[in-house]
Amino acid sequence: MRRSYSVVCLPGDGIGPEVTAEAITCVNRLGEASGFEVRWDEQPVGGASIDLNGSPLTEQVLEKCLAADAVLLGAVGGPKWDDLPGRSRPEAGLLKLRKRLGVFTNLRPVSVLPALAEISPLKTDRVAGTDLLVVRELTGGIYFGTPSGREGDSAVSTMRYTTAEVGRVATVAFEHARRRRGKVTSVDKANVLEVSRLWREVVTRVHRESFADVALNHMYVDNAAMQLVLNPTQFDVILTGNMFGDILSDASATLVGSLGLLASASLGGKVGLFEPVHGTAPDIAGQDIANPVAAILSASMMLGDLGEVVSAEALRKAVAESLEQGHLPADLAAIPADAVSTSTFGKLVADLAITTLANKQPV
Ligand code: IPM
Ligand code: MN
Repeated sequence: MRRSYSVVCLPGDGIGPEVTAEAITCVNRLGEASGFEVRWDEQPVGGASIDLNGSPLTEQVLEKCLAADAVLLGAVGGPKWDDLPGRSRPEAGLLKLRKRLGVFTNLRPVSVLPALAEISPLKTDRVAGTDLLVVRELTGGIYFGTPSGREGDSAVSTMRYTTAEVGRVATVAFEHARRRRGKVTSVDKANVLEVSRLWREVVTRVHRESFADVALNHMYVDNAAMQLVLNPTQFDVILTGNMFGDILSDASATLVGSLGLLASASLGGKVGLFEPVHGTAPDIAGQDIANPVAAILSASMMLGDLGEVVSAEALRKAVAESLEQGHLPADLAAIPADAVSTSTFGKLVADLAITTLANKQPV
């Protein structure tokens, strides 16, 4: 019997629909070639959902996500909705989705392909060999802490973490380090913030109690931002909170050359959420020039999570090979006229992934 998965696709706003369309193409082609089927259910989120339903994420869509095998998301937000109050903004829909799915761990791998080290605006010899994983806490911290809101002429946001919240994401980070190069750098601001002192205390305890075989160091976030661009190969797993992880993962995009290359998986609940690290890029939306790599690699992480590990790996390899062969979307191409369109890149990757699979299968 064909393996079958139900996946909710939330294309969202801006370039979201174009990049997720290519990810879907790749997944469907791989499914045909290797004997599984994805039943896609496309639903609105973010600004698209505000325009349609008056809310950035309806309960109905949320229920569909909770009942699915996985959720693939594009991106949310845009100038059209920028003046809405906090709770009604497109981003609020995404935060609600993460919280309700219970996906407390956000994995953001950053690796510089040897052939592509030159694409980075940073010095090639510095970025070459970078292979790190940002483990970002995703359902707590200042994104969700209370109190939060306007109070007359002041406003408040609260960075709050419980020991349980820190402990569970730290455990995931150490487990990943064990399967990688055995090193965790925990990033905080413990010289100033009480919440960071708790963070550090808990990470240290989890390490001592269960992961003494993994190397652990602590780093202040300001220094971590500098170290990321100065000496990125020192990092294996970077473990950090919600906001620091948001900031550091964008900074780490300079290492690979473009935010258009970074994928993510949000795990820890019953259903995984897979989404590019990048935003909606409204300035280039609808022109078939957006880079679909982050969405395609997010789909690859999704396939891995669904258990389709051979297809996941074929897809990841196909992306790397397409880029290494010089097929570069507009954000990466040195000469604009040489750039490959969003849809052409998607098809190239799908073709290559199928070939990789075929070569692997006994004839
Ligand atoms: C990200 C994004 C989101 C975040 C926004 C869109 C809410 O920047 O996934 O990195 O801040 O988490
Ligand atoms: Mn971000």
